[in-house]
Amino acid sequence: MTRGSLVVDHIGELVTNDGRDGDPLGIRRDAALLVEDGQVAWIGSARYAPAADRRIDAGGAAVLPGFVDSHAHLVFAGDRAAEFAARMAGEPYTGGGIRTTVGATRAASDDDLRATVGRLRAEMLRQGTTTVEIKSGYGLTVADEARSLRIAAEFTEDTTFLGAHVVPAEYADRPDDYVGMVCGPMLAAAAPYARWIDVFCERGAFDADHARAILACGQAAGLGVRLHANQLGPGPGVRLGVELGAASVDHCTHLTDADVDALAGSETVATLLPGAEFSTRSPYPDARRLLDAGVTVALATDCNPGSSYTSSMPFCVALAVREMRMTPAEAVWAATAGGAAALRRTDVGRLTPGARADLIILDAPSHLHLAYRPGVPLIRQVLHNGVPR
Ligand code: NIG
Ligand code: FE
Repeated sequence: MTRGSLVVDHIGELVTNDGRDGDPLGIRRDAALLVEDGQVAWIGSARYAPAADRRIDAGGAAVLPGFVDSHAHLVFAGDRAAEFAARMAGEPYTGGGIRTTVGATRAASDDDLRATVGRLRAEMLRQGTTTVEIKSGYGLTVADEARSLRIAAEFTEDTTFLGAHVVPAEYADRPDDYVGMVCGPMLAAAAPYARWIDVFCERGAFDADHARAILACGQAAGLGVRLHANQLGPGPGVRLGVELGAASVDHCTHLTDADVDALAGSETVATLLPGAEFSTRSPYPDARRLLDAGVTVALATDCNPGSSYTSSMPFCVALAVREMRMTPAEAVWAATAGGAAALRRTDVGRLTPGARADLIILDAPSHLHLAYRPGVPLIRQVLHNGVPR
């Protein structure tokens, strides 16, 4: 018995994501799991559960890896509830509201921004999210992007520099100058706090040439590439992401056959964000088409005050199953192992020896219930780094 060890016993259904026997979820029945030093140390039959300092009796419930939310914009101030109400009354979403949040974010204190990130991070943890990526992108000055990332880095290792979210109003008539600034002083100030670089590649935001230039500068500074692509209409983003070896292209709502083929022949993950389609009343991406082509699919919340103000991965799983033709198993995999793949992480998104002991004990006997019982608080307990939360 190791000091500080913990055994989770009487697991009715354990989702490991170990991919064995052709079952991507790697489900084991009547299982137990031992945690030592914040990691999964052993998995096996409940009959052979080892002794440990502490024991949690799962009582036959399902246990799964903590959700990996690989796309979230948590550093912001204010809300845009009125914009949401206008959309529900028929207004389209254009991304134009981003500038409203930029104004509020610039005016906020560090402590206000930190409190918002902390509140949303806590909301996520209560809903089973144990790993989250956090983007900047509502500062859009050198100082405001750097402080957004500095604050984000207090909460996660997966911080993303999104200085190229939109061209801010003060640069509206000289976008080339803004791109030069993003690649120069802004990247220099942001890079020490960032693991990733992202660009909103879309009509009305950044075109392919600007996106390529910015992502190349980020790569040269040692950042990994991800991007917002093909959200509001077809465009070059997905193929650009594949060309640059992006870890993930996110949204993927409007895809051509060439986009799907490019993804299928690549290591780039397609991250789908159904909270955004829900909240902008837009058509959902066709997950089935991507899965059938052999593309790796992840699900994430896109949590932000404009297009998707949800922090709930269970909600996204339910939407993916009901609206995007994913099976419950595919959706659960995409929200855990898929998110880990989108962040190029092997330590999370699975419950196998050596992985981080990030797990969810459901108030249900099976992962199916996440989609079968939408909107119900099924997250009974979360372990993060082996610590019950
Ligand atoms: O992922 N598309 C660009 N960025 C966010 C929306 C940001 C906003 O509306 O504030 C997104 O949907
Ligand atoms: Fe986003």
